[in-house]
Amino acid sequence: MTQRRKWAIIPGLVALAAVAALLSAYTGAMQQQQQQQAPDTVITERGAWGYSAASSPQGRAPVQPIAFPHPTHVQTLGMNCLYCHFAANKSTDPGLPAMSTCMGCHLVVGPNRPAMNGRPARVSEGITTLTNYWKKKQPVPWVRVHYLPDYVNFPHMRHVNAGVTCQTCHGPVQKMTRVYQYASLNMGWCVNCHVGNVNPAWKARYDCSVCHY
Ligand code: HEC
Ligand code: HEC
Ligand code: HEC
Ligand code: HEC
Ligand code: HEC
Repeated sequence: MTQRRKWAIIPGLVALAAVAALLSAYTGAMQQQQQQQAPDTVITERGAWGYSAASSPQGRAPVQPIAFPHPTHVQTLGMNCLYCHFAANKSTDPGLPAMSTCMGCHLVVGPNRPAMNGRPARVSEGITTLTNYWKKKQPVPWVRVHYLPDYVNFPHMRHVNAGVTCQTCHGPVQKMTRVYQYASLNMGWCVNCHVGNVNPAWKARYDCSVCHY
């Protein structure tokens, strides 16, 4: 969501709506199929509808350069989501943790893991890869899971500050060995909550210009 195109996009949107109607049967079938698959199934290909003018597809779970385990950090270590996604309550974009956030611990918790909790001593592939990026002074090239098209305005902080939990939209990330897209991120999904169907306390404006530039 870097380039914010203006109202000139609207005629294009109308054309897109026609295309969307044609594709909707197909998309619906695909999404149903995706929901039936195990949550961690890799869906790296974007479907025919996955042109840049649409949201990322439900079930999307790209392979990451490091198999970062949310369950270890959130459940075992008890870390708060905002420790790493530091801007979710302040900004449109929640942000991904900087290398220094990881290395604050992983300079101490290094690749050589001692025997622990009944597991034998081992070398952690994930922490080795992380340390190699750090030595090369390179950021980890995380693959983005969720994205909305450029013509949609989505302010994270408004939602987080209104008390909508991360899990309402992202599902049980604390249990995901690999992050996958839990919700459809389509327009109906947004509007359904804004009209108050998910929780009457979460009513929000839903005129077109609220979400579209
Ligand atoms: C609460 C947020 C929200 C509101 C309000 C909203 N939209 Fe959308 N709209 C979206 C999102 C998100 C998408 C992207 C959907 C996708 O890619 O699946 C979208 C996509 C579209 C598209 C592209 C075609 C498509 O379905 O993929 C058109 C056209 C559109 N909106 C028109 C409108 C009009 C007209 C209104 C007012 C009646 C409106 N929108 C109100 C969130 C919203
Ligand atoms: C120790 C740091 C850390 C903590 C704590 C953490 N995350 Fe993450 N999160 C990451 C990293 C690194 C990525 C990118 C790699 C990936 O997708 O697995 C990520 C990715 C994500 C994504 C996918 C982003 C995208 O590309 O679309 C979501 C959603 C997410 N985290 C939500 C959460 C939630 C919700 C919590 C709390 C329950 C949480 N995270 C706690 C580090 C963290
Ligand atoms: C608060 C300290 C802390 C922070 C911050 C932290 N980690 Fe960890 N991480 C740990 C601990 C402790 C373990 C468990 C090590 C074990 O099981 O032996 C771990 C485990 C891991 C593992 C799995 C190791 C394995 O093979 O089981 C990976 C990969 C990892 N961390 C990557 C990251 C990345 C990437 C970041 C930054 C986004 C990060 N960590 C931030 C403390 C932290
Ligand atoms: C109302 C639904 C909703 C809530 C609540 C929500 N998110 Fe998101 N999140 C989204 C959507 C939609 C996107 C895609 C945004 C885009 O492309 O602009 C996203 C994208 C992300 C990303 C990837 C964007 C990036 O910066 O790389 C992360 C990380 C993330 N969310 C973390 C969180 C965390 C952590 C929380 C809770 C503190 C949270 N989200 C709460 C809907 C939500
Ligand atoms: C689970 C419920 C939920 C979902 C899903 C959701 N929203 Fe919201 N949205 C809210 C709430 C609650 C607010 C805060 C209203 C307030 O602050 O008064 C809000 C506020 C907003 C605002 C600011 C509205 C204003 O009055 O300025 C925008 C823009 C927005 N949402 C866009 C979206 C888009 C785009 C999507 C889908 C990609 C989406 N929302 C999905 C609940 C939701």
